[in-house]
Amino acid sequence: MTDLAGRPRILLVGGGGGLLGRALLESTVPGWSVRSVHRHPVSREAELGAEWIPGDAADVRDWAPLLEGVSAIVNLAWYRWGSERKFRRLFEGLDRLVRAAQESGTPIVQVSVPPAPAHLETGIPYLTYKRRLDAIVRQSGLPYAIVRPTMMFAPGDVLLGVMLRSVRRFPVFPMFGDGAYRISPVAAADVARLILRFAKDPPNATVDVGGPAAYRYRDLTDRLYELLGKRPRYWTLSPKGGVRLAALLERLGSTLLYAYEVEWLLSDTLALPPSPGVDWTMERVEPYLRAEAERLTGRPSPELGPLRAQG
Ligand SMILES: NC(=O)c1ccc[n+]([C@@H]2O[C@H](COP(=O)([O-])OP(=O)(O)OC[C@H]3O[C@@H](n4cnc5c(N)ncnc54)[C@H](OP(=O)(O)O)[C@@H]3O)[C@@H](O)[C@H]2O)c1
Repeated sequence: MTDLAGRPRILLVGGGGGLLGRALLESTVPGWSVRSVHRHPVSREAELGAEWIPGDAADVRDWAPLLEGVSAIVNLAWYRWGSERKFRRLFEGLDRLVRAAQESGTPIVQVSVPPAPAHLETGIPYLTYKRRLDAIVRQSGLPYAIVRPTMMFAPGDVLLGVMLRSVRRFPVFPMFGDGAYRISPVAAADVARLILRFAKDPPNATVDVGGPAAYRYRDLTDRLYELLGKRPRYWTLSPKGGVRLAALLERLGSTLLYAYEVEWLLSDTLALPPSPGVDWTMERVEPYLRAEAERLTGRPSPELGPLRAQG
């Protein structure tokens, strides 16, 4: 199950171009060889000598040839939003992947999401198909890990990075309710490190992963303003109003924020603690936010120290 250089080979489903994929790709250097299945070219994969299999995971009928010489599968592929049909097709493709892995006995690390409020768990294809796939992996009899990170951050992310750009660009920033709900952002690089550890030594368990500290959402948005040298100015909406605004944006075709993401945030369930499997010092979000603010403005941001952690 190794390449010519004796490195174990990983099948990266979803590839090295997404938020977590980029971090994972860097973490595979120098110990792993990578075979990568996804749709769009990723220049960094070419630079690192990864083998790219162009294609949509929903369309792969026979995964067996792609599993040849593979020591472990890591599945990252998923959509942030889409129709029932879109999720069903991807689920079916990934279900075929798990069946093929059963034939070859290949361990699998499935990247999933933390528990959401009950009505979302059963009400949106994003979650219903994710949970079906998780269950199939769990019951496959294969060595496995299901890794469920909370909100991740890394350069180019579409959550905190977008929030920072919005705070800079618009005169007001929407605040849903009182902002007292908490989050514990986790660095994609830390999640990647844990995934590769599990790819080598699967725990046969579901592992939730939060960052090193939890913060009140509003403390975090205040910090974005401070880093950009602006006074906080919020457009305060009721929790319902926040969900309605996101639903409206969704209907207008915006990918900025989805209604289910606002509901999830408001449910105060996203402040996961770090996983017990993490035995290194995890990256905190503050230096990342400062670096992103400086990148955005092209000038130094104030040194502000750590944010107040909440539990
Ligand atoms: N972002 C977060 O904060 C977060 C938190 C918890 C869990 N997760 C989970 O972590 C995983 C990775 O998330 P991410 O934020 O890194 O996602 P991302 O940035 O959207 O990247 C997903 C990657 O999957 C590939 N992909 C999507 N659909 C595909 C398909 N049908 N066939 C083949 N490849 C496909 C895409 O590459 P191509 O376009 O080249 O195909 C893309 O680079 C997902 O399973 C997500 O649910 C994310």
